[in-house]
Amino acid sequence: MHREIKDNIYWTGAVDWKAREFHGYQTRFGTTYNSYVVKDDKTALIDTVKEGFEDQLLDRLEHAGVEDLDYLIVNHIEMDHAGSVDRIKEEYPEVQIVTNKRAKKGLGDAYGMDVDDVKIVETGDELDLGEKTLTFLKTTMVHWPDSMVTYALEDEILFSNDAFGQHFASKRRFDDEFDDQEMGKIFDETAKYYANIVLPYSRQVQGVLDEVDEVGLEFDVIAPSHGIIWRGDISRILEKYDTWSSHDAKDKVIILYDSMWHHTEEAAAAVAEGVEEKDVDYRVYNLSNSDWTEILAEVMLSKGLIVGSPTLNGELYPSVAGFLTYMKGLNPVDKIVAAFGSYGWSGEAVGKIKDIFEELDYETVDSKKWVFDADEDSLSDLKSLGKEVAQEV
Ligand code: FEO
Repeated sequence: MHREIKDNIYWTGAVDWKAREFHGYQTRFGTTYNSYVVKDDKTALIDTVKEGFEDQLLDRLEHAGVEDLDYLIVNHIEMDHAGSVDRIKEEYPEVQIVTNKRAKKGLGDAYGMDVDDVKIVETGDELDLGEKTLTFLKTTMVHWPDSMVTYALEDEILFSNDAFGQHFASKRRFDDEFDDQEMGKIFDETAKYYANIVLPYSRQVQGVLDEVDEVGLEFDVIAPSHGIIWRGDISRILEKYDTWSSHDAKDKVIILYDSMWHHTEEAAAAVAEGVEEKDVDYRVYNLSNSDWTEILAEVMLSKGLIVGSPTLNGELYPSVAGFLTYMKGLNPVDKIVAAFGSYGWSGEAVGKIKDIFEELDYETVDSKKWVFDADEDSLSDLKSLGKEVAQEV
């Protein structure tokens, strides 16, 4: 069923209950691909849905009484939002695509689409639909070069595309339809989404938030392209974005490790003991059996990070190497870090962790490597390493 957001403005998106993986992101609650339609003298569809979900979109358009589409606004060309543009053009041959210059090129490059008649808009341009007006704000690199958002002027709705979204499938569409406990879960998913999708572009997020402030845009509703629509306490989600994009983290230490023969695992326990002695909050994750998506959110929200890896054939253990590569791309900043790891004969892993820390501009406060099973002295050093990081956060 479609859902009315305001008079003649409807959610017409798709719910993907089964999604559990989203280009490396673990989506344990599924997701939605949100699309919206604004009906007036002219009718505009804002974004489409992932390919394979277009029947949901078309059904909802029909239920919303949409017979003709004048405009299709493409806020972002990634496949989960522009994957059904072709199908919409088939169903509504007269529809005109409206997007920014970069996205116009992207529609040609990514989908082989004929883009000659695509209408280009810039920040501040207005699209008059009758009584309703849409305007646009380019949000370059939040999180792709083509990203932009659409704002319904009279209704004060921000169609924010990926920003403010979260991967959360539900029958309910609005934040005020969930109780406090459920909202806690939704905010956790929103933080996870920020950490795994938006985090590298935090500077640009701060820029957009400042721009919105300067222009004095008011939001009555924020309608993202994934998950629930914010219309209850809008200030709360805006504050969260301000906090996350300012890299404001808690006094907490995240200990990550993997282990071949439990030696590095035992060491992780000693490190945790050290952190605990300083009465600082912490969490420990084995990278082979934990959700990296969740870990990334924890790393973003915590000041301290300690990573342990055995050396395998002169390299990092594969799960540690994989996670650190993933983390490097997302670039959580300003962490207080340390490295540790057991080895048999060469022991390169700790140095390689420190190299990655250096690339991320982190200062390693301590490191420890030892041969096979940590003896009493090594365990004591590992405990001190935990204490040292805990003290610094
Ligand atoms: Fe939800 Fe950047 O796609």
